[in-house]
Amino acid sequence: MSVIIRTEDLSKSFGSNHVLKSVTLEIPEKQISAVIGQSGTGKSVLFKTIMGMIRPDRGRVWFKDTEITALKQDALIAIRRCFGYSFQNAALFDSMTVGENLAFPLKEALRLKDRKEIRRRVTEMLEWIELPGTETKRPDELSGGMRKRIGVARALIMQPEVLFFDEPTTGLDPVLSETINNLVVRVNRELHITCVMITHDIPAAFRIADKIAFLDQGYVIAGGSPKEVAASDHDMVKDFIRISFSELQV
Ligand SMILES: Nc1ncnc2c1ncn2[C@@H]1O[C@H](COP(=O)(O)OP(=O)(O)OP(=O)(O)O)[C@@H](O)[C@H]1O
Ligand SMILES: [Mg+2]
Repeated sequence: MSVIIRTEDLSKSFGSNHVLKSVTLEIPEKQISAVIGQSGTGKSVLFKTIMGMIRPDRGRVWFKDTEITALKQDALIAIRRCFGYSFQNAALFDSMTVGENLAFPLKEALRLKDRKEIRRRVTEMLEWIELPGTETKRPDELSGGMRKRIGVARALIMQPEVLFFDEPTTGLDPVLSETINNLVVRVNRELHITCVMITHDIPAAFRIADKIAFLDQGYVIAGGSPKEVAASDHDMVKDFIRISFSELQV
C-alpha cells in the first residue's frame, strides 16, 4: 500500500481558536479513508488545508512527492486539478441546469471548448451516477439525495485522483445515505479513485473505510484500520463508537 497524501504536524488557528494543533496523517492510495470526530472539531478545516485552500500556521502537506504547503499560487492551482471536492452542502449553482453545473468545471477549469465533447462527458457522467436524462433539470427540482449525487458527479467529471467527500450523507434518510455510501464505494472500486470522507455516519465509516482517523481537539487521537480504531482505549473514542452503534439498536 502506498501513501498518496501525507500531513505532518499541521497546525491552524483562527485568532484564539486553535483548531488543528498537530495533525499527522497518511492517506493510502486507491483506498477509502474516513475522518470522524465531533462537530466543530476541524474536519472541514483539515480537508481545506490538505487541498491548499487554507494555509496552515505550521506543518506540511505532501501529495505524492510534492509538498503542497511549499507551492506558489500557480502550481497550487495546477495540483488542485488532481483533487475533487464534494462539498458538505452540495454547493450547486441553482440558477444553472444540472447539465450546466457539470459542464461548468470542464469549461472553466479544463478550458474545454468542444460542445459535443462536453455534452458527451456530461451525459456519460449522469449515466454513471444513475441519474440519466436530468441535464435540463434545475437543482431545486431535485431531491436532497439527487443533489448530493450531482455534487459528486460535478467533482468526478474532472477525473480527479483523490475525491474528498465532506459529509456526503448528512441530512439524508437511511436509505439515501446507503445509496451515497455505495456511490463512494463505486467511485473507489470502479474508477480506482482514492476517496477521503468526513462522515458522522460512524457505522458506515467502519463498514466501508479501509482507514479511519479520529480527530479531536486538534489531534488525531485514534487512527488505523477500523479494527484498530475500534480497539482504541481512548475514552473519547470508546464513548463515541459505543453511542454511535447503540443508536442502531432501537
Ligand atoms: N474560515 C474560517 N475562519 C474562522 N474560523 C473558522 C474558519 N473555518 C472554520 N473555522 C472554525 O474552525 C472550527 C472548526 O470548523 P470545521 O468546519 O472544520 O468543523 P467540522 O469538524 O467540519 O464541523 P462539522 O462536523 O460541524 O462540519 C470551528 O470553530 C469554526 O468556527
Ligand atoms: Mg465540516
